[in-house]
Amino acid sequence: MIQQETTIQEKAFSSNWWKESFLKTTNTLTKTSVFKDCISKDETALMREEIMSIVRLLCKLRTTQFGFRVFVDGKKLSYKQMNEVYDMPPKEGESVNSWAKRAFGDKKIGIIINRGEKLNNELATRMAYKISPLLNQVGTPLLGVNFTIFIGNYGWTPLGIHTDAPGESVTHFHLGPGDKTMYTWNKEEYEDLAGDKKFNNKNVEKFLPYANVHPFEEGDLYYMPPNEFHIGRSDELSIGLTLWLNNHQKKDLAKKLMNVILDQYLEESEDTMKPDKNPLEDLSAAEQALSLIKLPEDIKDLPFSEVMENVFKDYRYSLYSNSGYWTRPFPKEDETTYTLEDSFVLEKPFVMKYVETLDRKNIYIYVRGTKVVLNNHACIKTLIETINKGEVMTIKEAFAILDSEWDDNIGFYIINLLDTHNGIRKLS
Ligand SMILES: [Fe+2]
Repeated sequence: MIQQETTIQEKAFSSNWWKESFLKTTNTLTKTSVFKDCISKDETALMREEIMSIVRLLCKLRTTQFGFRVFVDGKKLSYKQMNEVYDMPPKEGESVNSWAKRAFGDKKIGIIINRGEKLNNELATRMAYKISPLLNQVGTPLLGVNFTIFIGNYGWTPLGIHTDAPGESVTHFHLGPGDKTMYTWNKEEYEDLAGDKKFNNKNVEKFLPYANVHPFEEGDLYYMPPNEFHIGRSDELSIGLTLWLNNHQKKDLAKKLMNVILDQYLEESEDTMKPDKNPLEDLSAAEQALSLIKLPEDIKDLPFSEVMENVFKDYRYSLYSNSGYWTRPFPKEDETTYTLEDSFVLEKPFVMKYVETLDRKNIYIYVRGTKVVLNNHACIKTLIETINKGEVMTIKEAFAILDSEWDDNIGFYIINLLDTHNGIRKLS
């Protein structure tokens, strides 16, 4: 039985399955489709537990920072009301049904969590294994992939009939235990019928006779391309993990790159500006702002377009080191202690990336979306390449690759950097 289930799963998310089943049925990501029995019941149960542990973490952090929103009987809980949720986290091993009953009684609930890929490393890794073969075939969306978690038994999606943001396509991994049904409409037909009431249309019953109906249950996948008018219905409590391919508008990428500059290179300063009393043609006051933008040495004198190209390069290497996820995991809170006798392995399926600065003085290593900067030594590149092969390595083997003149502390420092940012894992 176990053997059989393993075979089903390998089949469902293998490179060949994505190509021959998923991409063919969806007509290369353009057609709404349901795929039955892709995830075994054992695995959906595990994934539900991982999601419950995300809820537990958010309750512990007492934060809505990662897009944690709770709706009870259709009303979004206020900042203050969220405290009651934080005080009732799911217990270790508690099922979603049991927790929902304990925390909300018989009320209808809807819970949305936005940064799933950041909040549970096991789940992020599990999903990266599943979708990497797809991204290899369709390309990594330049604004990354992310997953949003929906938990609920709220009946109709409270938004009404709607389309998602331009360029977003979604694959819904349905984790049960309840079922869900999605309703979609032929665009022209629906727009004709609905006229100027087409967006966030809550008059659902009227349009149901014209809908395409897509029921699915625990273990199934539902794919929906951009621009599809839709609404979901879930009467029994269920969890959906929705994976988004973010091929948003081109201007969004431009803004993203500008934000990379702001995040990485704008120096913190609380100074207020001096009034500019110079003649109009004297531009020297600009220096007050320009002096705060600290571009790296190797790109600071390049023309603007080349600076932006290098910013894009930096952003892209970072994204690719994190299997396309648009947010990175939290760094480990406590530094892992390594001795010469220990061994470690790459945190697969993620691979670390590296690039030399243009002046070749430094090397940037990208670890699960975090950039670390080291002096450029050929032996560091060899070390990263060797770890990326994914085989178990001992610390001694790692140090044998590094410069033999170096003190062991340099080796431990590098290994700890990779470990803290979740690039490698110590084996016990
Ligand atoms: Fe939607």
